[in-house]
Order: sequence, then C-alpha cells, then structure tokens
Amino acid sequence: MSDPLRLGIAGLGTVGIGVVKIVQRHADLLALRCGRPVEITAVSARSRGRNRGADISGYAWEDDPVALARRDDVDLVVELMGGEDGPALAVTRAAIAEGKDVVTANKAMLAIHGHALATEAEAASVALRFEAAVAGGIPVIKALTEGMVGNRITRVMGVMNGTCNYILTRMEDAGLPYDTVFEEAAQLGYLEADPNLDVGGIDAAHKLTLLASIAFGTRPVFSAIDLEGIQRISVEDIRHAADLGLRIKLLGVARMTGRGLEQSMSPCLVPADSPLGQLKGGTNMVVIEGDSVGQIVLRGPGAGEGPTASAVMADVADLARGLRIPPFGQPAATLVEVTAARATAAKPFYMRMTLVDRPGALARVAAALGDAGISIDRMRQHGHEGTDVPVIIVTHKTTRDAIDHATGLFSTTGVVVGEPVAMAIEAI
Ligand code: HSE
Repeated sequence: MSDPLRLGIAGLGTVGIGVVKIVQRHADLLALRCGRPVEITAVSARSRGRNRGADISGYAWEDDPVALARRDDVDLVVELMGGEDGPALAVTRAAIAEGKDVVTANKAMLAIHGHALATEAEAASVALRFEAAVAGGIPVIKALTEGMVGNRITRVMGVMNGTCNYILTRMEDAGLPYDTVFEEAAQLGYLEADPNLDVGGIDAAHKLTLLASIAFGTRPVFSAIDLEGIQRISVEDIRHAADLGLRIKLLGVARMTGRGLEQSMSPCLVPADSPLGQLKGGTNMVVIEGDSVGQIVLRGPGAGEGPTASAVMADVADLARGLRIPPFGQPAATLVEVTAARATAAKPFYMRMTLVDRPGALARVAAALGDAGISIDRMRQHGHEGTDVPVIIVTHKTTRDAIDHATGLFSTTGVVVGEPVAMAIEAI
C-alpha cells in the first residue's frame, strides 16, 4: 500500500471533531477505498484543554494554525475554523504557499476570496476543495463537477440554509409569528453566532455564489446576488400561500440569461406539492438542471457534525486517490467576470397589500399594476372588520423591476396602507 496521506486539521469545533471521528472509526475502510491510509498527524484549535468528545492525544498540537500548515509531517491541510478573513485565510494561504493541498468547509471565505485563492492554488499546483461548504452533507459540488460534467447547466436552485427552513416550516405548522420562532431557534442552538448570517440569507447566498460559479463558469462574486432574508415573512403570508397551494421558502436561484447571470437568494413561493415545497425542518435541497440530464434533485442534511464531516472526507478521499479537479471545476483563469442581471426572467408574483376599504380603491391598484405593465392572474379579498382590507394578488409572469415600479406607483394611489409584500413564484 502507498504512503499514508497525513492530515493537519485546523479547527476542532463540531466539524473538525466530526472529521477526527470518521478518520478514527473508518481507518480501514478509508485505506481500502483510497488505496492508502488516511491519518491525522497534527491539529490546531483555540483552546487545547477542552474536552471534545474525541481522543486527540495521539496528534501533535499547534497553537498557531499557520505553523500547522508548515509542518513537514502534514501533507494536506483541513481548514475548519470558519470566518471570511483572519486565521482561516492565513492558514489557507500558508498551506498553498507551502505547496500543500487544502480542504475547507469555509463558504464565507470562498464566496469572498474564492477566485484569488483558486488562482493562487492553481499557480502553486495544489488542490483547493470545498464540498462541505455547500449544503453540508449533500455531495452537490461533486454532482456538478463530476456527475453533470457533460451538461450545460441551465438553472441551479435550492434551500441551502436549514435554520431558515426550520423557522418557516415551524411558523406554518404551529401558526407562530417569526419573532417567537426565531427565539425558539436561538434556544435550540440553531442560529449562527451572528444570526443575520442565517435569517438575512447571507450564509445561503455564500453557498449559492459557489454553486453558480461552478455551474456557469463565472467568477464567484458574492455581491452580485440579489439578497433578501426571511425577517419580513408573516404568518399571514404563509397562510395565504397555503390557500393558493404554495409554500414560502428562502430560495436561491441562479440562471444564465441572455443579459447575464441572474442570482437571487430571497423568499419565494413554490408549489406546496413540489419537492422544494415538501421540504420540512432543517433539511437542505438543491435542484440542478442540465441540458442533457434534465432535472436532478438532491436532498439531505445541510449542517451538523456527521454530515459536514462526511463531505470533508469526500474531498480528502479524492485527494488521497489522486483525483484533482480545479477548485471551481475549470481553470480559475477561464472563469468569466459576472455580468449581473437583475431578475430578468419573468415569473408570476404573489403580492399582499392592505387597502383602505372605500369605493374605487381596488380599481386604483389595478390601474397602477396596468401602468406598470403587470397583468393580474388571480385576486382574493378576505372578509374583514374595520376600515382596512387585506388583498392578495397573483400576477401573470412579470419582472421584479416591473413589480418594484408598481409598488412605487401604489404610494401615489392614496389607498394602499403600509408596505406591500411581493414574492416571486418559482416554477420547478
Ligand atoms: N447555519 C447553517 C444552516 C449551517 O442553518 O444551514 C451552516 O451553513
């Protein structure tokens, strides 16, 4: 059997310890499948003394992760510290400079610095792999770079933040408001240290940035994503959506259009009986469409010790076997600059607004929609008490720009109370 592949693990949080456990538990299996042993030689983390639920006494300890990357007995650096800059970026760059392969789960770092890091890694002839950065345990990057390599990708979409999906499904199932369920999620430990990464859609948008780059051969540019979180979703919207046979999801969508790459991470409605509509709790789902294969649906755990470590090991095993693929599936120099196209694809929209209940109010709203070039497909006005009336409108296919134009016109009608809600209905 060949020489062992010697890992240095920087970061012993949930995922790092998950990797330690897999390497220890499946040493024989990995050696057989990779054709060589996979071993851990050194580890690094912030505090040495903590009880982590795994025996790390047999590994060399480094306080400084950069020193770990430079050790002669480390062939491959596994970066699991997280954070877009700081030590994670330093250890990744140190490993590349040392001519060592890197496996990371760090979506934030790659969404921001991915193109620069890929360029540096390729110049140094080292691998930079990140299966665990997108949708946890779902092998979605392998699906794109390997299983679907013979396809032109037409659309990638999915639910890629389990915490948001938990919050939305719990709001629907229990009829509870956003703030109450947010607190529950916090008590359950589901939220990131900065909750805005989850509920603001940033974590999911980092993941979409990486998938879109691989799918469409574009440079990863996080700021090119149209981003909106779930904080404004109300139980009313969830109920109205259900009445229409729809469910609200924080949905990432990337598609190449004639005008450029359209990327959005925002609350959207999907058919309740579709695979995305049926997705409950903290599970993730990625839907990929290719010109040869059609539609692929991948579903699985998007976070947690075992699932994320499982994805890290997929990359480690590839490198142990000698399978080397450029970080974004093709050479970094060939990734084209993103021309960001904002919501060019026409879709139906769900709109909810509150109107003053007086003669001609609805006619004014309908006229504003008409002036914006928007045609109404369905409309519902519910029975009510008091002077204001909630109205739900489903439009025929239109664009986000037209919807924004219409909502701008609403403010001149004198009959729309407060801010209207508008969400795209995504066909799947
Ligand atoms: N906080 C993320 C989620 C997991 O809820 O899916 C890591 O990206």
